[in-house]
Amino acid sequence: MRIAIIGQGYVGLTIAVGAAGAGHSVVGFDLNNDLITQLNAGHSHIEGISDADLADVIANKSYEASSDASVLAGSDVVVIAVPTPLDGQRNPDLSFVHAATDLISKHVKSPALIVNESTSYPGTLRNEIAVRIAGVDHLYASSPERVDPGNAQWGTKNTPRLIGGLTPAAVAKAKEFYGSFCDSIIEVSSPEVAEAAKIFENTFRQVNIALVNEFAQIADALGISGREVLDAAATKPYGFMPFSPGPGVGGHCIPVDPSYLAHVANQVGVPATFIKRANEVNLAMPAYVVKRVVAGNGGSIKGKKVLVIGVSYKSNVADTRETPAAAVVDLLREQGATVDWHDDLVGSWRGETTSPIAGADIAVVVTKHDGVDVAAIKACGYVFDCTGTIAGVDGI
Ligand SMILES: NC(=O)c1ccc[n+]([C@@H]2O[C@H](COP(=O)([O-])OP(=O)(O)OC[C@H]3O[C@@H](n4cnc5c(N)ncnc54)[C@H](O)[C@@H]3O)[C@@H](O)[C@H]2O)c1
Repeated sequence: MRIAIIGQGYVGLTIAVGAAGAGHSVVGFDLNNDLITQLNAGHSHIEGISDADLADVIANKSYEASSDASVLAGSDVVVIAVPTPLDGQRNPDLSFVHAATDLISKHVKSPALIVNESTSYPGTLRNEIAVRIAGVDHLYASSPERVDPGNAQWGTKNTPRLIGGLTPAAVAKAKEFYGSFCDSIIEVSSPEVAEAAKIFENTFRQVNIALVNEFAQIADALGISGREVLDAAATKPYGFMPFSPGPGVGGHCIPVDPSYLAHVANQVGVPATFIKRANEVNLAMPAYVVKRVVAGNGGSIKGKKVLVIGVSYKSNVADTRETPAAAVVDLLREQGATVDWHDDLVGSWRGETTSPIAGADIAVVVTKHDGVDVAAIKACGYVFDCTGTIAGVDGI
């Protein structure tokens, strides 16, 4: 099949390479010209796709990147994989989805399967995509992406894929396409079910992470180790699922998607109380971390040299979107400390660059990538570990 993927970020490039590897002819469309040049030169910008993977599909001519929207014409399948962020009021911002939809409307004039993989609230495919594209008899399906960047065990091929279509023909075509590179396809009764399942999955994580974050604070105040309690609870073989406390949540998904669910909940008159409270707890974690660091240093860190280790939102990825490290750094500076950060994967961030791990009075480990020099971290005067992976130091 001739496939066009709109958006060549974490999701779009992953699907593009998966589909190209299955023998489809894939064009990855993105508005970012620099990214297109980089991709066509065989350089991947995401952790899950290696340069070698990309070079393979370029060499056998099954993949090409382009910033020319006319490449969308004549596609059998068009996949939308664009950002779905929050606006300044933390409401859904569907402007990227609308822009992608308008491009389809303008360029795809013969019937195709239009699939939305961008995460959004139930009703998006039907009301924000299909109704905006008039005059061509397209098929429409929703297949929310579940990629977990950096996860070596679960990828596009072996993570079960949900599909909901506006018509049985759309479901059949979507099954044919995804079945060519995904092991397991799960058909649900409507696109709304598929859309809702995706945001509920991430809401489930957000709420449970908030619960363990709150519990970590209770345990510390009680003078017991929250992590030891969680490990003990996790020995129960049924009815319990472990989550880890941390400095807050980051990335494009967990801090964002639940607010899409809260938005539609409010529209239908149901207060999304868990989501609101979970947001509050998670967003307050950087302040809790800094409070503990100050307390661990005799009540003041004024004038201290502090190094924040790991500024991406999770280990072994370079993604700094919504990272709690930003608030941790800012709040430490508000306390009068001189704050630098170390993250070799990120390199540069917010106009600053990574610093070596040496000579700090205080190290605050927000994210720990494989291979980071733990001995050098431990050589700092005081260490606060948010990851629960460094023995014998303070932390959550
Ligand atoms: N990153 C993840 O782990 C993940 C996992 C599952 C689902 N999702 C969801 O998938 C969607 C995409 O996320 P992502 O992480 O791939 O985003 P991303 O920011 O990595 O990539 C999006 C790409 O879309 C491009 N783009 C924006 N508007 C465009 C347009 N009109 N036409 C063409 N290209 C356009 C951007 O230039 C960018 O390269 C979001 O809805 C996200 O919530 C992300």
